[in-house]
Amino acid sequence: MVESKFLWSVEDFLAATGGRLEGPAPGGISGVSIDSRTIEPGEAFIAIAGERMDGHDFAAAALEAGASLAVVGQDRAGAISARPLVVVADPLEALRGLARAARARSRARVIAVTGSVGKTGTKEALRAALSPSGETHASEASYNNQWGVPLSLARLPESARFAVFEVGMNHAGEIKPLSKLIRPHIAIVTTVEPVHLANFESIDKIAGAKAEIFEGLEPGGAAILNSDNNYFAYLSATSKVFGADTIIGFGHTKWAEARLEKVSLLADCSTATADIMGQKVTYKIGAPGQHLVDNSLAVLAAVSLAGADLALAALALASWSAPSGRGRRHVFRTPRGPVTVVDESYNANPASMRAAIATLGRSEVAAGGRRIAVLGDMLELGPNEAALHRDLAGPLGEAGIDLVFTVGRRMENLRDALERSVRAGHAERAGELEDTLLDEVRPGDVVMIKGSFATGLGVLVQGLERNLAAKYEMRAGSAGM
Ligand SMILES: Nc1ncnc2c1ncn2[C@@H]1O[C@H](COP(=O)(O)OP(=O)(O)OP(=O)(O)O)[C@@H](O)[C@H]1O
Ligand SMILES: [Mg+2]
Repeated sequence: MVESKFLWSVEDFLAATGGRLEGPAPGGISGVSIDSRTIEPGEAFIAIAGERMDGHDFAAAALEAGASLAVVGQDRAGAISARPLVVVADPLEALRGLARAARARSRARVIAVTGSVGKTGTKEALRAALSPSGETHASEASYNNQWGVPLSLARLPESARFAVFEVGMNHAGEIKPLSKLIRPHIAIVTTVEPVHLANFESIDKIAGAKAEIFEGLEPGGAAILNSDNNYFAYLSATSKVFGADTIIGFGHTKWAEARLEKVSLLADCSTATADIMGQKVTYKIGAPGQHLVDNSLAVLAAVSLAGADLALAALALASWSAPSGRGRRHVFRTPRGPVTVVDESYNANPASMRAAIATLGRSEVAAGGRRIAVLGDMLELGPNEAALHRDLAGPLGEAGIDLVFTVGRRMENLRDALERSVRAGHAERAGELEDTLLDEVRPGDVVMIKGSFATGLGVLVQGLERNLAAKYEMRAGSAGM
């Protein structure tokens, strides 16, 4: 094979998309994008129609920004004068065609990651763990839906040795076609929990939808499943129906093939000893939390099954840091000492709330400092939402959280269930809490901020970042007058 600096030759691109070239042919295609704002020169732009925006309106801008060509629908091509275009019946279908061609030509070991929580974290840990063993391609961000998965596949370089794809869903039936595009050798289900419950009659149905990941499994493929989850037996049986040859349980259970033997959950990292299918590994995980230790067992099992080096993988997990909005720690220095803010504002559901609360409980506070939780509504939980919010009172008590701020109508249920001494304040909207929180927080505190993305708790993280230092400088100043 001649190594090419291009991701796609024009010839292969046209064959995969089934498109007709209008205008001069570029020398090759260096990447694939559906966003004209971030497109790099040489990349192909594919005009996807979304709920709010239609890529066709940005095809000319993408070409202006240096795109090598733009893939557009035949019904819209007439209105676009910029060139070169690749005209197709349906651009999303053309993207799927590229995804299929990328998969067909690839010799990589392919891993698909799904589950109710921990998909992105596990996918990023796999990227880090596999990279030392060979060229690794992984989905960007949470590109896990009907356009994110084919886009991530279309970007798979022919030379990659390992490929990791995140797969998500909001409804039953969504994962099956994505898995059939990916054709994984290894499918990971991190866990099954009440998330997106509003779209499902029961957690059983969520498990059923996650099990669709096995429908695309390559013959003789492997399933990596959480042995501590109630759905292990069900997922294991279903994976066999779809041809899984190897089933690896990961977790604390005695019989798990990827088993945790010893763990120290420290304030800002964890150390673990695990038995990964007969191989002992002692390693450090660079970010705190039992949930990350659990995910790491699935990561190491996949590394081993993919034929990558387990010791190099374990070493890579030591420099793991939580992604932004999913547990990333910010230390804001004030003249009187640091305030630690744990930014979990990217999303929330009962499982990840419990994980974050337990981790906050183990965090170290400086002298006089307190553990403070700022919790926003968890969305999409359906008719049981009041109880699912209220039930966080138990974990908050067990973790010894000193103060709890609540944001949103659903979180009133939790506030009412809390001991008065820990209730710190409530607001309907995140912004209304900015000043109260700033007043309350003092050096030595650890503040964990978590809610569903739509509750907008990110503004509170930004508010503390902007104003904390100034607050103490002003106080220090006025004390001296
Ligand atoms: N095994 C786990 N159990 C509970 N919580 C977890 C687990 N793994 C990760 N989390 C927490 O869940 C949150 C979301 O993590 P992550 O972004 O990796 O999940 P995701 O499944 O990719 O989410 P999304 O569906 O939004 O793409 C983070 O706060 C993370 O700390
Ligand atoms: Mg994700």
